[in-house]
Amino acid sequence: MVAFSGAEEVSGESTYNRTTDLKEFDETKAGVKGLVDSGVVKVPRIFFNPSDVHLPLHEAESIQSQSHAQTQLSFPIIDLQECITDTKDSSRRKELIDQVRKASETWGFFQVVNHGIPTSVLEEMLQGVRRFFEQDIELKKPLYSRDTTGKRVLHSSNFSLYVSPSANWRDSLYCLMSPPPFNPDELPSVCRDILLEYNKEVIRMGNVLFELLSESLGLNFKHLTDMGCAEGNALMCHYYPACPEPELTIGTSKHADYDFLTVLLQDQIGGLQVLHQNQWVDVPPTPGALIVNIGDLLQLISNGRLKSVEHRVLANKIGPRVSVACFFSTSYLPSTRIYGPIKELLSEHTPPIYRETTVKEFTTYVHSKGLNGISALEHFKL
Ligand code: OGA
Ligand code: NI
Repeated sequence: MVAFSGAEEVSGESTYNRTTDLKEFDETKAGVKGLVDSGVVKVPRIFFNPSDVHLPLHEAESIQSQSHAQTQLSFPIIDLQECITDTKDSSRRKELIDQVRKASETWGFFQVVNHGIPTSVLEEMLQGVRRFFEQDIELKKPLYSRDTTGKRVLHSSNFSLYVSPSANWRDSLYCLMSPPPFNPDELPSVCRDILLEYNKEVIRMGNVLFELLSESLGLNFKHLTDMGCAEGNALMCHYYPACPEPELTIGTSKHADYDFLTVLLQDQIGGLQVLHQNQWVDVPPTPGALIVNIGDLLQLISNGRLKSVEHRVLANKIGPRVSVACFFSTSYLPSTRIYGPIKELLSEHTPPIYRETTVKEFTTYVHSKGLNGISALEHFKL
């Protein structure tokens, strides 16, 4: 059991005040990396994760991890060569759109290869994140903050530290890259160039994906971009230090992304798992590949056809693990644009299942609930 709001919990011999411990950890501004550097061999209690890794019995029985599963499920992998060579082979394009549809309607996740982003850019991006987190703490501290007002670049450990039921074994650097105005000088100098280069590439790829997804819904290829789905993006760079007791905590708690679409770059360590057919399935680290997943907002506007699927990252004795998530969303725009199920996808027999909302309202709701394992979409169901 975890005390959520500073209530004192007496367990055995120790008295535990969660809020005090969270504050003390936060005020070091050194993150989980700081703990590991200081030589901790025991995972502090704020990181205990009873609701996820240590599932309540009924859940533990119903959700299997892949290693215990009877069948080996193969994670979808899609070759985007067609989109980068522009051969205009219409049968190949149709096949591609079918693959995207199938993967997005069942897994909500797929890997892409031959996407056109050079492997050297992917590798340098991962290296850049390592350089940021492994630089002198005094250079990182000025960026450590939880206050997003007026700031487009910040670093912290667990953005929802005080809201989520348990802290994650992870530090993160957040960079809001678009829309303009954006001053590149705000980016940390140790990874500035590669953040800009990777961002340019990932936006180009995002636009290709929105075209494929539009067509997979039977819409004009520009439909999702015309709705503004690709108008804003942020890069979230994660650093998962090696963990001395990985069975007690988690790298990222079970959650679904609350953007339109996410493109994720992960290194070779592994640990990312997707909930598929009631089983946690590993997303295999694949050199040169990128992972794509549907976010809640795309599930909402596709009226539930494209699935925003829960995923998590296990903590690991081996590390650090590095990943970079590109979130396509516009929560930070003052836009009052209304998003609801796309009219063309509705009929007498397929009525809307979600109510209309704004990206801001949706995001504010998600932030208020933290990483508690409950889908934000439930709140927007009609
Ligand atoms: C995320 C996420 C997975 C990873 O940032 O939303 O799910 O591998 N990241 O870091
Ligand atoms: Ni995620």
